[in-house]
Formats: sequence, C-alpha cells, structure tokens
Amino acid sequence: MKIVVLFGAPGSGKGTVAGRLVAEDSTLRHVSSGDLLRDAVKCRTAAGVEAEGYMKRGELVPDVIIARMIGEQIEKVGGTRTLLLDGFPRTVAQAGLLNEMIAQHGAELTSAVLLEVPDGILVDRITGRRVCPACGAGYHVTNIPPRKEGFCDGCGTGLIVRKDDNLATVKNRLAVYQAQTVPLIDFYSARGVLRRVVGTGPLDGIVERVRQAI
Ligand code: AP5
Repeated sequence: MKIVVLFGAPGSGKGTVAGRLVAEDSTLRHVSSGDLLRDAVKCRTAAGVEAEGYMKRGELVPDVIIARMIGEQIEKVGGTRTLLLDGFPRTVAQAGLLNEMIAQHGAELTSAVLLEVPDGILVDRITGRRVCPACGAGYHVTNIPPRKEGFCDGCGTGLIVRKDDNLATVKNRLAVYQAQTVPLIDFYSARGVLRRVVGTGPLDGIVERVRQAI
C-alpha cells in the first residue's frame, strides 16, 4: 500500500481536492481524520464524546484517539491501493506514529503534499463552507455553490454549517496549525518527500497539480 499525506491549513482545500481525485481514480482511497472524528461524535462513541470538546474549541484531539482511528483505516484499505491521508498527521509526534503504522503494514509513504493558501483566503473559505450532513459533500456559498441554494447536488439534503466553522474557532484552528502542524514541513522536507502545491486559483488546476505531485 502507498500512502500520500495531504496537509495544509484549515480550509486549504484538502477535503475538496481529495474528493475530486478519488472520484476520478478508483485506486485511490480518501481517509479524512476530521470526517472520522465527526462521525464518531455523531454516533456518540466513547472516542467521539471525548473528542467533541477539543473540536468545538478548534484544538487537536489527543493523539491516542485519532491514531487508533487511522490505524483501523490503514488496516481496512490494505492491498495495492493508494491511501490519501487528509488531516493526519498534524504534529511531528503523529508523523512518528504514522511511520510506525507504515512499518507495521509494509506500506510506503510516497509523498507529503502541502496545499499552500494565504490566511485571508482561508478565513473566507471556511466561513463560507456548507456541508451535506448525509453524504459529506462540501460546497462554498460563492466559490463552489450547489446548483440549488442550500441543498446538496448529490442527494438533495439540506446543507449545514460545521460547528467549528465560526470565526472565533477558525482563528484558534489557524493558530494551532501554525504552532503544531507547520513543523511537519521541515520533517517531510528532511525526508525528501515534501511536495509544495499552490492551493489557490481554479480548482481544476489545483487538482491537476496535486495529481502530478503524488
Ligand atoms: P478537519 O476536518 O481536518 O479540519 P481542518 O484541517 O481544519 O480542515 P478543513 O476541513 O477545515 O478544511 P479542508 O482543508 O479540508 O478544506 P475544504 O476542502 O473543506 O479537522 C477538524 C477538527 O478535528 C480539528 O480542528 C481537530 O479538532 C480535529 N482533528 C482532525 N484531525 C486531527 C488530528 N490528526 N489530530 C488531532 N485532532 C484532529 O475547503 C474549505 C472551503 O473552501 C470549502 O467551502 C470549499 O468549498 C472551499 N474551497 C476548496 N477549494 C477551493 C478553491 N480552490 N477555490 C475556492 N474555494 C475552495
């Protein structure tokens, strides 16, 4: 199994780009740490109940919770597929845990793709985000609007705003990214797998740049 780490600030487009890549290539699997955690919160699992407060405040949930979830996903995917890991690792400690999982499963980390987007654009993208609670599709009120305002193109469900997409939490998430995730840039650069991708401009172009980077 090959593993591609997709990282970048909140709102940099990780989920949107991964969704597009997976839709076009059946050998890819998308695993989003945020989606796994939101599902756990929704299902009121023990991990979800513990994670909820951290997520509402825009803080990182404890490593042990998210690492267990990612380990289960790596086990499930297996085989010759390529796993797109969106949102994990988010700290150098988590990158160490991922390396252990990779060794355990005889997998290979082929690239760590960093989506680079200026802060001003990130805030606009996050505060304008709308998501489908049924199928998980993501939209933006002006940048990537659904065909019918307020409803999912795919399944017709009413769109919602994520609980952590308010301005105060977004500012905290950006600060947490700077303090805890930015050190991953040096970590992966030192290992020769860092690929920087400009995450602004038309979505098609970004998707194509990421495809080439992986
Ligand atoms: P998570 O869900 O991973 O949130 P995030 O990293 O903050 O990333 P986002 O989902 O906000 O953004 P994205 O980069 O996927 O952007 P998107 O494609 O949606 O994590 C949530 C929380 O869970 C964390 O705060 C933490 O508490 C916890 N957590 C998760 N992982 C963890 C871990 N490893 N360890 C500990 N805790 C963890 O795009 C954003 C918006 O922009 C959308 O509206 C989209 O339509 C729009 N958009 C996208 N691309 C473009 C474009 N090219 N042009 C215009 N608009 C665009």
